[in-house]
Amino acid sequence: MVTGKRPLGWSVLVALTNGRTRIPDDRLAAAVQGKVVLVTGSSYGIGEATAKRLARAGATVLLVARTADQLEMVAEEIRADGGKAFTYPANLAEPTAIEELVAKVLAEHGQVDVLVSNAGKSIRRSVADSYQRFHDIERTNSVNYLGPAKLVLELLPSMRERRQGHIVNVSTAGVRTPPMARWSAYLASKSAFDVWLRCVAQEVRDDGVTTSTIYMGLVHTRMSEPTPLLNKMPGLTPEQAADQVCAAVADKPHNITPPFVRPADALGNLFRVPTDRLFEQYYRRTDRPRKEQP
Ligand SMILES: NC(=O)c1ccc[n+]([C@@H]2O[C@H](COP(=O)([O-])OP(=O)(O)OC[C@H]3O[C@@H](n4cnc5c(N)ncnc54)[C@H](OP(=O)(O)O)[C@@H]3O)[C@@H](O)[C@H]2O)c1
Repeated sequence: MVTGKRPLGWSVLVALTNGRTRIPDDRLAAAVQGKVVLVTGSSYGIGEATAKRLARAGATVLLVARTADQLEMVAEEIRADGGKAFTYPANLAEPTAIEELVAKVLAEHGQVDVLVSNAGKSIRRSVADSYQRFHDIERTNSVNYLGPAKLVLELLPSMRERRQGHIVNVSTAGVRTPPMARWSAYLASKSAFDVWLRCVAQEVRDDGVTTSTIYMGLVHTRMSEPTPLLNKMPGLTPEQAADQVCAAVADKPHNITPPFVRPADALGNLFRVPTDRLFEQYYRRTDRPRKEQP
């Protein structure tokens, strides 16, 4: 996590690059009071901050992640604060675990009004370092694409039947900006779920089920911490990121996109070859230490 003093104007830079979509407490409370919201990846980071904010606003939050102890700690904090939280430890990389999870949740709560699909796994590794690591591609796909898709498949029938439901996908700005070296496994898996959900959204909207995708900028969490370059860059706190997720829950926008992403997306598409060459140059420069090894 990033600590220490930041230069003057840092928070403005953070807002300009990552956006600062906010939602006032009263509007959030009006939207989620008494609603059942399932938040995946709520043991740490953005998911934890989101679950806490939603519970403070009066939602019943269902916490899903693998680490049972950590989930229970988050739930305890929520309950101590007067909120309602229930824990459902599950590995979203396992389709049968998802089937069991949804069966249990629907039996115990009757419905899920909002799904926040937030759990994710990030990997930053060059292809040269991945020849023996096909499992990187398998793992990112199972947590970032196949698991979330399976969870939506399990929840959609009851949402469509009730003609009510909202799905929030915590995606990344990286699926909208030009592809970058070393992020192949992560960005391909996040892109897959983004496209899958956008196709599905067109089919279910008529049945009262809506979707929002957040093309999240940089957030300083456990996920971004291992990459030193990211630690020096302007990023949101988990609470600021949770603000965006809660705005998506309450206002149901089609998407939330940081300011820099739209021009980067447009320019990247318009100048595809030069953009790829530019990133290629960057990769070559930063790859030098490894190349110099015997
Ligand atoms: N941090 C950023 O800069 C950034 C930027 C853009 C988008 N995002 C997206 O934001 C989301 C949250 O990331 P974060 O930064 O908050 O990361 P984080 O602190 O590492 O949290 C990831 C969460 O996902 C859960 N998770 C991972 N694998 C799982 C699995 N197999 N089954 C169930 N839960 C699993 C983790 O819990 P357990 O380990 O307990 O299972 C944890 O609660 C991710 O989808 C990420 O792609 C992050």
